[in-house]
Amino acid sequence: MKILSPSLLSADPMNFGRDLHRLEEAGAKWFHVDVMDGTFVPNFSFGYSTVAALRKATDRILDVHLMIDRPIRYVEKFCDAGADYLTIHVEADTPENTEKALDMIRAKGVKAGLVIKPKTPASAIEPYLEKCDLVLVMTVEPGFGGQKFMADMMPKVKELREMLDRVNPTCHLEVDGGVDLVTAEVCKEHGADVLVAGSACLGASDMKAFTESIERE
Ligand code: DX5
Ligand code: ZN
Repeated sequence: MKILSPSLLSADPMNFGRDLHRLEEAGAKWFHVDVMDGTFVPNFSFGYSTVAALRKATDRILDVHLMIDRPIRYVEKFCDAGADYLTIHVEADTPENTEKALDMIRAKGVKAGLVIKPKTPASAIEPYLEKCDLVLVMTVEPGFGGQKFMADMMPKVKELREMLDRVNPTCHLEVDGGVDLVTAEVCKEHGADVLVAGSACLGASDMKAFTESIERE
């Protein structure tokens, strides 16, 4: 089964609730929530209060992507705010703290995810794969919506799918950045099963058709 995780970064801030409900009506099962600290990436976005408000507003899966330095400092608070999946960057801290942060997330009963930036090789997350419920491959440099899809990330997606099939076959493999109806097919062919889409999804003339097309096998 393929899953669309619409990125709320592309929602209209003045009509956030309206966009959330439009996505629910279109059949969204997950919501992707980007958290940025202005340091790990040169931008700001949502924090605890948005995750907590979303938790009250929807029963769908909250897929929270932390683009913040040394996330170990904040993971428990994001778990308490209501994340279902909490994903941290492997580049954001030392290997010891990365492992500890994954353990902290799991100890909270929340699904743990690890994400890699375009220049980071798959081997960087290999030691942690058994502790992951989700692995996320960035197909743009993190920080902004609306960027061009990097097709050269596809060998990495395939490599990770093969690694996961060996050590942790039920782990989700997600892609994020520049995903639209065309690039989603390429990602699926290479083994991705969760597809984040921001601008293409929120900008679709028919969100229900967009969701169905992305989730088609
Ligand atoms: C970028 C974020 C993405 C972003 C994707 O750093 O992680 O989730 O919202 O937006 P699109 O789909 O427009 O590339
Ligand atoms: Zn994201």
